[in-house]
Amino acid sequence: MKVTVNTFKEAKENKTKLTMLTAYDYSTAKLIDGAGIDSILVGDSLGNVILGYENTVPVTVEDMIHHGAAVCRGAKNALVVIDMPFMSYQTGVHDALVNAGRLMKETGADAVKLEGGSEICPQIEAMVKAGIPVCAHIGLTPQHIHAFGGFKVQGKSEEAAAGLLKDALLVEQAGAFAVVLEAVPAKLASLITDKLTIPTIGIGAGNGCDGQVLVYQDMLGMFSDFTPKFVKRFANVGEIMTAAFQTYKKEVSEGTFPAPENTYTMDDSIIEKLY
Ligand code: KIV
Repeated sequence: MKVTVNTFKEAKENKTKLTMLTAYDYSTAKLIDGAGIDSILVGDSLGNVILGYENTVPVTVEDMIHHGAAVCRGAKNALVVIDMPFMSYQTGVHDALVNAGRLMKETGADAVKLEGGSEICPQIEAMVKAGIPVCAHIGLTPQHIHAFGGFKVQGKSEEAAAGLLKDALLVEQAGAFAVVLEAVPAKLASLITDKLTIPTIGIGAGNGCDGQVLVYQDMLGMFSDFTPKFVKRFANVGEIMTAAFQTYKKEVSEGTFPAPENTYTMDDSIIEKLY
């Protein structure tokens, strides 16, 4: 059954935990979707894990469209949420609408996600009015990496915690259907979850949130440039891939691959005439 924003609403009401994973291509999206994960996030983390940038700042709308369309072709049931990249919405309501419209029309995604609190509420309101479901994202918002001076836990002081709670309430009021809480102390995330009527999706925000999201390369052990404390490795796929690449190299070098079963045959009498 197709997961929709109504499924998210019901999950909050029924206290059913929501699951979300990132994907950036067709075949991974198909696997995640087939595993019954509720939602796929085409994260601008593709800047790090797919394109090899140090942060998400260089990611463009075109990058997101290219990968988002591939994900949507692979996701039949999961709700696909696509990130709006840096400077595609911060510059104003008009730009936000134009870029969100492109992301929805040119990928087939079900919703967009954007980072920020009170300062982007006018954009959220306008997009929701235009019929575009919006997932908000507060706490550690990687597009603000230069302003934060690094990847740091957010909301630890009384003032910062109150600010995050206020932002969560404001994005809900602006019409967001869900909010991602990233790198926030677990107790604050639980408090925000209790105060909101929309689901909170945590990443590094403890188990009190209404759902969880992870970058799939992190949870599969496929990305080692940096591993935040909140990541759990559910499998060591990186090690399996490396071992397979090494075996392939060995078999090609030794001439044992391709074997007869990987090879096409033809009539000897035909080939002999060509010698
Ligand atoms: O870009 C991304 O993958 C994200 C998640 C970390 C929530 O925003």
